[in-house]
Amino acid sequence: MNILNFPERKKNHERIVMVTCYDYTMASIVAESPVDMVLVGDSAAMVVHGHDTTLPISVDEMAAHVRAVRRGAPDKFIVADLPFMACRKGLEPAMNAVEKLMKAGAEAVKLEGIRGQEDLVRHIVESGVPVMGHLGLTPQSVKQLGGFRVQGKSADDRDRLRHEARACQDAGCFSLVLECVPESLAAEITRALDIVTVGIGAGQDTDGQVLVLHDLLGLTPGTQPRFVRTFLDGRSLVLDALDEFSNDVRQGGFPAPAERYAG
Ligand code: KIV
Repeated sequence: MNILNFPERKKNHERIVMVTCYDYTMASIVAESPVDMVLVGDSAAMVVHGHDTTLPISVDEMAAHVRAVRRGAPDKFIVADLPFMACRKGLEPAMNAVEKLMKAGAEAVKLEGIRGQEDLVRHIVESGVPVMGHLGLTPQSVKQLGGFRVQGKSADDRDRLRHEARACQDAGCFSLVLECVPESLAAEITRALDIVTVGIGAGQDTDGQVLVLHDLLGLTPGTQPRFVRTFLDGRSLVLDALDEFSNDVRQGGFPAPAERYAG
């Protein structure tokens, strides 16, 4: 995947597949898969660091995740999330954050929302850095949204999201994540835009789909939102292995002779 492939993928209706990834080992597995692109999402704050929201993660922590993923997946198209407030404290800190993520190995950055950030997005793009937008449920605004909820349900909200989607494209975004919006709205936005849309909880008519890797592998504890499909019962598999290891250690079956150094 190359930045130049996105328009042709849209034109040819070839769906784009994206997963999140945060570490070297998982990235090395994703590297062997047919997945098109990897998002080093600020969901790392929740998935890897155990926070309730994405707010606590810093630019330096994000850069460390990007470096690890780049080492594991040297040839994948990597998008790095600009974390909470990284873009809201002026141009210089924002550009420093972009620089850190790109130097860590990202191919593009992702930025939540567009209101008040149109000029910044233009500046990032003019600086040679591809930008992915993100609208709908923008988790960095969870405190303002009153929780992780479906967006774009009222006529006013739908209208606002249509305008914001257009603003992302006009500011130079090469793609747009649509999170937790009604399928009909995501379809409408996807048809109206020239850039690709990647949906999560946005129905089947977006140009691509993204899921959090740990969700799709069934590793995430607790109940999942309805848009998540678990393609593997990862937690049970890991627990089975840990059960077996514990039993073997306790009963003296591990290490076996072939697993010991003689002499
Ligand atoms: O951080 C993340 O994982 C994301 C996806 C949910 C799109 O932004």
